Amino acid sequence: MYIYHIFFIHSSLDGHLGCFQVLAIVNNAATNIRDSRLRHYSSCPLGARDDAQDARAYFTTPIFYVNAAPHIGHLYSALLADALCRYRRLRVPSAAATRFSTGTDEHGLKIQQAAATAGLAPAELCDQVSAQFQQLFREASISSTDFIRTTEARHRVAVQHFWGVLKARGLLYKGLYEGWYCASDECFLPEAKVTRQPGPSGDLCPVSLESGHPVSWTKEENYIFRLSQFREPLQRWLRGDPRAITPEPFHHAVLQWLEEELPDLSVSRRSSHLHWGIPVPGDDSQTIYVWLDALVNYLTVIGYPNAEFKSWWPTTSHIIGKDILKFHAIYWPALLLGAGMSPPHRIYVHSHWTVCGQKMSKSLGNVVDPRSCLDRYTVDGFRYFLLRQGVPHWDCDYYDEKVVKLLDSELADALGGLLNRCTAKRINPSGTYPAFCTTCFPSEPGLVGPSVRAQAEDYALVSAVATLPKQVADHYDNFQIYKALEAVSSCVRQTNGFVQRHAPWKLNWQSPVDAPWLGTVLHVALECLRVFGTLLQPVTPSLADKLLSRLGVSATERGLGELYFLPRFHGHPCPFEGRRLGSETGLLFPRLDQSRAWLLKAHRT
Ligand code: MSP
Repeated sequence: MYIYHIFFIHSSLDGHLGCFQVLAIVNNAATNIRDSRLRHYSSCPLGARDDAQDARAYFTTPIFYVNAAPHIGHLYSALLADALCRYRRLRVPSAAATRFSTGTDEHGLKIQQAAATAGLAPAELCDQVSAQFQQLFREASISSTDFIRTTEARHRVAVQHFWGVLKARGLLYKGLYEGWYCASDECFLPEAKVTRQPGPSGDLCPVSLESGHPVSWTKEENYIFRLSQFREPLQRWLRGDPRAITPEPFHHAVLQWLEEELPDLSVSRRSSHLHWGIPVPGDDSQTIYVWLDALVNYLTVIGYPNAEFKSWWPTTSHIIGKDILKFHAIYWPALLLGAGMSPPHRIYVHSHWTVCGQKMSKSLGNVVDPRSCLDRYTVDGFRYFLLRQGVPHWDCDYYDEKVVKLLDSELADALGGLLNRCTAKRINPSGTYPAFCTTCFPSEPGLVGPSVRAQAEDYALVSAVATLPKQVADHYDNFQIYKALEAVSSCVRQTNGFVQRHAPWKLNWQSPVDAPWLGTVLHVALECLRVFGTLLQPVTPSLADKLLSRLGVSATERGLGELYFLPRFHGHPCPFEGRRLGSETGLLFPRLDQSRAWLLKAHRT
């Protein structure tokens, strides 16, 4: 007696149900269940959709400060958003359904001071550094649909309108603000969050307990936002939507913060002190606080204050680093509620990259330049590394050897080697997707017979790869892209084991006994590779394209709706069987250790 497990994939990234699709049937054979399996197949045409799939989704990265050049931490924020967004496009291919914004945060004291230090006008510094971010993102294949700069006129309109709404709703008042301000972090700090550290001259200087950045005492009349009124609404929002902030520890942390008192928030500065920003409407003596200015970028991009923005808000997923959680999970939702709008749909939070165990900083001189990493490890290689090694709920350490080791073992040897083993001329002389023989590999395990060649481990492989898309969907849904990649990598290893076990290079195409099994081994391995290539598209778009093209998978066969794994095993026609493979375009991912050795040598001389 066998048991069937039928797995359904549902679109889960944004919590909406999507296309139901039977993905796997494992271990078994009861006729009545097999019939229901067939029904599921026939009732789910390729690309089947439901209404929810047509819903829009809007992804955002934080907007990046332009006080310094981009580093790998910034690229990581953008890559996480890019992978989520690309994954969503695989599920919902309609271009109109997904929007993805990034940009630069150009106002505030931090930028004003950085420009003064560099001897540049603030606008000049902004132009230079914003261009560096744009270039980096182009080079790193960040597939954003919008790039916003907060110095654009459209943004000033949006911010001043937003301010007007808060004012009209009685949420802004003028009052005396006195306390610590940290220009590097652009935030106000209570005494309890300030400590003293020896400065350059040996004197004790006040610094932020969290970031270690210097703070200064501020006493001035400002506009103040009635943040304290929003403590309970924020608690209700978060308790009612446990997935609002992902991963869970960050959701929990915000609820903990909300247990404490939530003081009102100063949302403007004296223009004489901060001139580089957006003036308060009707009061030029005050400049709008840079965080209020920056957060509104998410609305500017979608056309606020024009009504068109409503078709994108609040279907929003913000991707942010943990250092800016308070601004996105407390200030921003409170400001939105204050303006009569809903909080964002999801906030995905990631941790930080350190370098050889240390925080990255200009003063330590250990900032890793992402562009040289893209050059050295290739765009897809470096994207894969950051997303495979980056764990959202804890900090990750960067060092070069780690990149080389990971890429050589997972992309060059395991994945590239597997592709090579199944497509090389000597093993696949016809250069086609060979036929699958159901007698050699019956869908019912445990059968014995002279032509049955599949073993128990082979059924385990089929089951693992069949359930992989669902696992990957769940990992994306939980913002665990590294786990999605780990799952793919583990299946790649298993597929290599399958090929190794059956050693197709020892089988002979000319032998009527060997040939059907040889074709089946290659067919199964190519089907596995097709699944891997499809699922890797959000992370390594060019490499996945190269892989799928080599398999002869056309552009319209690469979506998740088309991902029927091994249909012949389930008694269905396989559109790839007998198809010519794509042309040979060299190694999928050349090993790096050779070129690294050369690079290190070049460095030394
Ligand atoms: N300008 C604000 C964001 C405003 S959004 C309305 C800001 N800018 S930032 O340039 O300092 O940071 C941008 C993103 O880069 C943040 O998500 C931050 O967490 C991320 N990172 C900065 N350093 C990082 C690491 N060392 N590692 C990973 N990400 C890090 O904050």
